[in-house]
Amino acid sequence: MSIKRLRRLRSSAALREIVAETSLSVNDLIYPLFIKPGTGIREEILSMKGQYRYSVDMLSAEIENIKNAGLKAVLLFGLAGHKDETASESCLDNGAVQEAIRLFKKHAPEIVVMTDVCVCGYTSHGHCGILRDGIIVNDESLVLLQKMALSHAKAGADVVAPSAMMDGQVAAIREILDANGFSNTAIMGYSAKFFSACYGPFRDAADSAPQSGNRSSYQMDVANTNEALREIEIDEAEGADMVMVKPAVFYLDIIARAAQQTKLPIAAYNVSGEYAMIKAAAEKGWIDENRVMMEMLLSIKRAGASLIITYFAKDAAKLLKA
Ligand code: PBG
Ligand code: ZN
Repeated sequence: MSIKRLRRLRSSAALREIVAETSLSVNDLIYPLFIKPGTGIREEILSMKGQYRYSVDMLSAEIENIKNAGLKAVLLFGLAGHKDETASESCLDNGAVQEAIRLFKKHAPEIVVMTDVCVCGYTSHGHCGILRDGIIVNDESLVLLQKMALSHAKAGADVVAPSAMMDGQVAAIREILDANGFSNTAIMGYSAKFFSACYGPFRDAADSAPQSGNRSSYQMDVANTNEALREIEIDEAEGADMVMVKPAVFYLDIIARAAQQTKLPIAAYNVSGEYAMIKAAAEKGWIDENRVMMEMLLSIKRAGASLIITYFAKDAAKLLKA
């Protein structure tokens, strides 16, 4: 009998390493950060152990940490000091996120600064667009996203990332950026963003939960694959430079399908709920946090993502260096 002996290539660490089909690098990781108006703020987010909200004056030390970890990219989220119907604080030239972008560009110009473009943290009702008679009005919401994206580009953002799931958001932002001389600012579309229950900890962190209703009229139904592929195709046609699948781990099948369809870089968002579940289980002593973290990140690469937005970025970078 001739046994097919696949174990031959598993017999030493070096053999396993040279035949490994997928690998993880610090270059793959994007670190999300929460920026809050005010001064002297460095507060831990209860639902996301190890993650903090920073005011701009407290950010310099963290920029150093990010640099020292070898990370190449961050994704900035803003909190609001004052919320209103039209998210007016989201596009201020001297807003918290806009100032944070400038600080990154001053202290670490080599780090790629990406920004989340969505108004839910800035609207009084907590929805990702303009709310009228219980409906999120698509085309008027695009104007808010345009203003916000332009303010980020003016402050020096390298990549703006619209996450509101409004139809036409990528085209609208491309148009306003080009019209104002920012044709080099890239767009990463949150193309296939699902109506997931895994965003809960983030909404605590960014204070962005909807006050009434939910996001099911704009975020994608969890059941759908073809629709996700259409979202990606449309964002690509509208001028996106990168596309995204979000969440990551519950949607590895979507990442794999997207990788067959598009030639653009695919980012996957390893979201707050996916982070919190691992943190909580590790705290209980039920899993080995580092091993589960690395296995999870590698699975996202294996599915076909080229970039991973993850709250684990600093921890993973440390292990990859060691
Ligand atoms: C804002 C936004 C959300 C996330 C990223 N951008 C929350 C939401 O859509 O409710 C979630 C990120 C995470 O859970 O880590 N639209
Ligand atoms: Zn939003």
